[in-house]
Amino acid sequence: MATVACTSTDEPGTGTGTKEVEVFTWWADGGEKAGLTGLETVFGTECKDFKFVNGAVAGGAGSNAKQVLASRLQQGTPPDTFQAHAGAELSDYINDDQIEDLSAQYGEWGLSNAFPKGLIDNLTVDGKIYSVPANIHRANVLWGNKTVLAKAGITKDATTLEGFFADLDKLKAAGVATPLALGKDWTQQMLFEALLISKLGPEKFNALWNGTGDWAGADMTAAITDYKKLLTYTNSDRDTFDWTDAEKMLMDGKAAYQLMGDWEAADLDAKGFKDYSYSVFPGNGNVFQWLADSFVLPKGAKNADGTKCWLKTVGSAAGQAEFNKKKGSIPARTDVPADGFPAYQQAAMNDWKTAVQVPSCPHGSACAQTWQGAVGSAQGKFSTDGDVAALQAALASAAAEFGPKAK
Ligand code: BGC
Repeated sequence: MATVACTSTDEPGTGTGTKEVEVFTWWADGGEKAGLTGLETVFGTECKDFKFVNGAVAGGAGSNAKQVLASRLQQGTPPDTFQAHAGAELSDYINDDQIEDLSAQYGEWGLSNAFPKGLIDNLTVDGKIYSVPANIHRANVLWGNKTVLAKAGITKDATTLEGFFADLDKLKAAGVATPLALGKDWTQQMLFEALLISKLGPEKFNALWNGTGDWAGADMTAAITDYKKLLTYTNSDRDTFDWTDAEKMLMDGKAAYQLMGDWEAADLDAKGFKDYSYSVFPGNGNVFQWLADSFVLPKGAKNADGTKCWLKTVGSAAGQAEFNKKKGSIPARTDVPADGFPAYQQAAMNDWKTAVQVPSCPHGSACAQTWQGAVGSAQGKFSTDGDVAALQAALASAAAEFGPKAK
């Protein structure tokens, strides 16, 4: 086990006075909280001079936390550290000059070679590295209730979209009113992206986010049309549901499937539900839609020394093992042994080695928060009106206004 010893320079009467490290996340319950507790435990051993303070704000994908964080940053009262996604989302904080450069710590803690180069590139702007990644999550996973599927005669998940639609019809015919459980805005973005990967393939999907793709084309119209059909298999109260409400439909046998990131594996485990299956979303092949949670040192943090000890814990092999075993994700470090990880994560670790990688907009690896907000509103409107042309026009204008070409 790597040691993460840290000491406080914050002697009574000389420093700013606090030993507390407020860790701001949206990991408030279930598997998410279990993962955070894993990190807290290692922090407690390695950073004895400091006290962990849980600043979690509940709400999937940071739907509430990000607003609270934005106002704290604006008011100059940041937490000691906060959760930020690798990629475009992190660049938002860098461009707004809200977080510190951690390049020196990467050298000091030997992190430069611990993570895949591609991931470090997503944490770097102008040669400076701004955060420490805790994990790699996969977004494009289809979770199933085995008993409900077996009752409808489905023993193997479909590998094509056509096959998936056929299975959803089978489920309806078997009396499952809502074969596919779905939640609000960002969860709809996830389902739409998974479908886009199947319809467009990974190159064209990536191009949508790097400014070379075409949001206005006929293949996008066809994808939105299929997405509209997909929504007919989902619960009509989706816009009021967080991901855990949709997950509950799956656990209760009211739905057969749910598309969700692999924090669902940890959450189902934490809730003691064992009767689940998982597979990549039908038609996605070997595409791994990735995202990574990372932690930062905000400018003006009250306890920078304590934050550094937290960040060192997050980046350590011991911290990554304790965290990821409980969180459903896989370590961002390449040297953490797979032993002791649940079966799902062992499979994900294998997939990650050979997969084709694409990013996620609702989880920050593909798009900035402004862009995500615009896509989310367009998707929410579509959930109510089903207007294919209007959604396509809104997506195209969001890309033009907030995408890389707008810069
Ligand atoms: C985060 C995950 C979290 C999920 C659901 C994602 O944006 O990266 O860590 O489990 O949201 O809340």
